[in-house]
Amino acid sequence: MKKLIILISVLSILISKNLLADEGMWLPVLLEAQYDDMVTRGLQLSPEDIYSINNSSLKDAIVLFGRGCTGVIVSEQGLILTNHHCGYGSIANVSTVNNDYLTNGFWSNDFKEEIPIEGLTISILVSMRDVTNEILSQIPTNATEKQRKDIANKLCKNIAAENKTKPHIDAVVREFNYGNAYYLMIYEVFSDIRLVAAPPLFIGNFGGDTDNWVWPRHTGDFSVFRIYVNQNNESTNYSKNNVPFKPKYVAPVSKKGINKDDFIFIYGFPGSTTHFMTSKGIDLNVNLINPIAIDIRTTKLNIIENYSRNNDTIRLMYANKRAGIANYWKKMQGETIGINATKAIEKRHSQEQDFVNWLKSIDSLKKYANLMDTLYHYHQLAYPYEYIDRVLYEAYFSNEIIRFVQRTIYDIQRGIDDSWANKWCYLVNNFLKNNNLKLEQDLFLSTFKYLDSISKYLPNDLLKNKLNTEKNIEKSLFINFNELSVACLKNKINPKTIQKDPLYVFTSKLLDWYVKEILPMEDYYNNKLDSLYRMYTKLQSYYLPQNKYYFDANSTLRIAYGNVKPYHPADAITYIHYTTIDGMVDKALWGQAEDYKIDSTLLELFKNKDFGSYANDKGELPIAFISTTHTTGGNSGSPVFNGKGELIGLNFDRVWEGTMSDFYFDDTRCRNIMLDIRYMLFIIDKYANAQRILNEMKFAQ
Ligand code: ARG
Ligand code: GLU
Repeated sequence: MKKLIILISVLSILISKNLLADEGMWLPVLLEAQYDDMVTRGLQLSPEDIYSINNSSLKDAIVLFGRGCTGVIVSEQGLILTNHHCGYGSIANVSTVNNDYLTNGFWSNDFKEEIPIEGLTISILVSMRDVTNEILSQIPTNATEKQRKDIANKLCKNIAAENKTKPHIDAVVREFNYGNAYYLMIYEVFSDIRLVAAPPLFIGNFGGDTDNWVWPRHTGDFSVFRIYVNQNNESTNYSKNNVPFKPKYVAPVSKKGINKDDFIFIYGFPGSTTHFMTSKGIDLNVNLINPIAIDIRTTKLNIIENYSRNNDTIRLMYANKRAGIANYWKKMQGETIGINATKAIEKRHSQEQDFVNWLKSIDSLKKYANLMDTLYHYHQLAYPYEYIDRVLYEAYFSNEIIRFVQRTIYDIQRGIDDSWANKWCYLVNNFLKNNNLKLEQDLFLSTFKYLDSISKYLPNDLLKNKLNTEKNIEKSLFINFNELSVACLKNKINPKTIQKDPLYVFTSKLLDWYVKEILPMEDYYNNKLDSLYRMYTKLQSYYLPQNKYYFDANSTLRIAYGNVKPYHPADAITYIHYTTIDGMVDKALWGQAEDYKIDSTLLELFKNKDFGSYANDKGELPIAFISTTHTTGGNSGSPVFNGKGELIGLNFDRVWEGTMSDFYFDDTRCRNIMLDIRYMLFIIDKYANAQRILNEMKFAQ
């Protein structure tokens, strides 16, 4: 086998082409194949400096922020930088109408003023270890996919449990590339996290949804937090006696800035990519599933927009939800355009044919020559189920009214006792407190109609019930929520009546069908696809040169690298690699969107060119820059380092033309967007006069 592998990898170096330079997100323990390239391009650190098992290293300064973002430690007192949009929920939660930190910003003056954030955790990776053999050696060769998954899951859980040595240690085994590899990850989890500072919204979210996923960008997307621990520097729950965390490693902040073509690298927790997705899979996803999801979200956004326009209470109530819907609504559009505009499907297809020809050229691999066709075939078979699932989620089950109905169904199924009506009425009142009923009714009625797009899959009786529900929808208790709450007041809630409600009946039937008919088929095809992709990615690991084969993102710690680079989004247009405050002021003064605002303090600083030591050598105040580095959701807040491992930026987005990089990375147009750390320093220093924060940061010499 070994010989075969060597032979194969020699062959593959000769054969593989079309491979793009900066694609890839590398596990820090597998950087070997990349290392020479990184050094040639400007890296001055040793592999040990980046990730060390025995000593402190850069990795000890990288944190998983909350569940879906990254952050970086920049002081001996556990000071953390991340994006503003990563801290958004926390900042909003501690804001009130009188102390609206979200809108006006927050700058603590001493440790005592830092605000504890309930429920927020920060995790630091202690170590990672390859446990592939421990898992794969226990899986019989003739195991079905289901048996395989069951065995692997059990082993993963066992290994994790053995390694959870303390309450604040989290151990988890992660699967890579459809089960070709497994790594044990051990984290220290911190739960006393406090807000230290945040810029006002007009800075931290400058450009809002108008500029989201777009270059040129002028967003000061940062916020500042701190980890607190007990007297022994150990993670513990909140206590006012806790003290700032002393980290193993502090990332030095650099004011040197960037120039075009500079080498940079990003250390963080990218969430999920599917870069082995076949041409067929991409086609179905971006051309058939994305459009309906976009459509449904457009409808939702229009409704929320209409209600929010003249009503600040509703606007605030729905701000977070709206941002969530809008973020991927916009991303999906960019993705579909990008895939089609770059002919990515055709290109991927031709790469796949090259791969098949390679298989055919090797005696021992000839038997896999049908692999791609089989994958296409199963994608096609799985497609209707994926489509149904997506429509049901976007148009029905994510709706607040339906979520309430669903909850009621489970509640009633669990059994009704004397206190039932009372408890349920509490939920009714909660619903009314947290939602705007009219808005939710509109949302429901206008997304319900999208179920028409799956009508042809519905069994007859369900279809009939759907038509019937449509006719009687206005009579449903769940639509006339106010009457429900009146009935609650009068103690007149009868579960029997609820169970006859048209929406209750339809939702029960729909759920039943989904669980019995759709989910099992989806599982069946997913298992098929998983085992095919496992084979495919395994063969790809022989086919591709070692430094081109990488694991899809799965929220584990990765390094990606590239160069600061302009790009050509369209004929005759070139976007340069950085933006400045001049552009922000132009947008604020002359731009049409409501998302462009500036206050008099910042405008004054701009007019006086009072940029302190944070201007570039042309005297401009930089805000953001772009590079060819491969990133995805989860990389928000990731530290951006120069070749010396000095902090020069925070990652926060990707450009419109390149949002398809989760499927297909094209280095002529895929760019990630980063905040220039000098802009953050300027805001803290000159705008907020919060020198206290700067004073504790470690600066690069
Ligand atoms: N597009 C970025 C990400 O995927 C930023 C989102 C937050 N910003 C916003 N304007 N909604 O998370
Ligand atoms: N804004 C994204 C995040 O929150 C990062 C941008 C991307 O998806 O590349 O993780």
